[in-house]
Amino acid sequence: MTPARSALKSAVWAVYRTGSACKAQVVRLTLGLLTGLVSGLARWLSALYANNWGLLRLTYYDQLYNVLGGPAKWLWVERGYLACRDMTPESVVLDIGCSNGIYAAYFYAPRVKAVDAIDCCLPAIRIAQRRYANIGNLCFAGADVVKDPFPSPRYDVVVCNAVIEYLTPDEIPVVFDKIRLALTSDGVLIGHTPIKPDAASHQFGSTSNINSKDKLIEILSQCFDTVETWPSLETTRTSVYFRCSQPRR
Ligand SMILES: C[S@@+](CC[C@H](N)C(=O)[O-])C[C@H]1O[C@@H](n2cnc3c(N)ncnc32)[C@H](O)[C@@H]1O
Repeated sequence: MTPARSALKSAVWAVYRTGSACKAQVVRLTLGLLTGLVSGLARWLSALYANNWGLLRLTYYDQLYNVLGGPAKWLWVERGYLACRDMTPESVVLDIGCSNGIYAAYFYAPRVKAVDAIDCCLPAIRIAQRRYANIGNLCFAGADVVKDPFPSPRYDVVVCNAVIEYLTPDEIPVVFDKIRLALTSDGVLIGHTPIKPDAASHQFGSTSNINSKDKLIEILSQCFDTVETWPSLETTRTSVYFRCSQPRR
């Protein structure tokens, strides 16, 4: 091949390669744009749906479309996952403040013998009963954790995620004591709560009277010999997990 033909061939290849790179770039940009539009719309719809709490005076938070709200909301599944750590196929579980029952249905019921899930918000309980009617070992009940008795006298695991921030300072120790009495001797309480001052930004009228991890540990230690805490991965506020075992007898 003459030098002129070889140079021509290289030039043609270079143009072809540049063209392909340009095309790939255009395809990537177009797909990025479409994906951004669709996910923006999904986030907006998800927020609209969730904000029904205030707008339409619903008294519960429906997590059904949280997954469309983007990665910050995906982190909420950590509470369901972490609550399962102490559950076995023999466990009898109480989920306090179950709301629309999504965690009880997807995380707890498939892993244990039986789940009682309670919430004082009757519309949320009715939705849960309708949505998860086909799950045989899951029972929803409308009940106030402060005033009403638990559905059963004994539980192996009690879950109390994002609930104590709705209780008054007087109610919190009462509820922990009730849980202490309901747990088997090797039972476990696991829960999660936002800690002030971030909790002040928490929506839906929670009061969050716990303003430090130490305060939380102090209250829990009155009912349990072993209390562990660790921070949540949630990014929108400062939240703490608590895992309590060896209920005081
Ligand atoms: C933020 S939602 C948490 C729902 C779910 N546990 C979670 O982790 O996403 C708080 C729930 O606690 C319920 N709740 C608040 N005070 C309660 C009480 N005294 N008795 C029973 N449920 C209560 C509310 O109705 C609401 O459904």
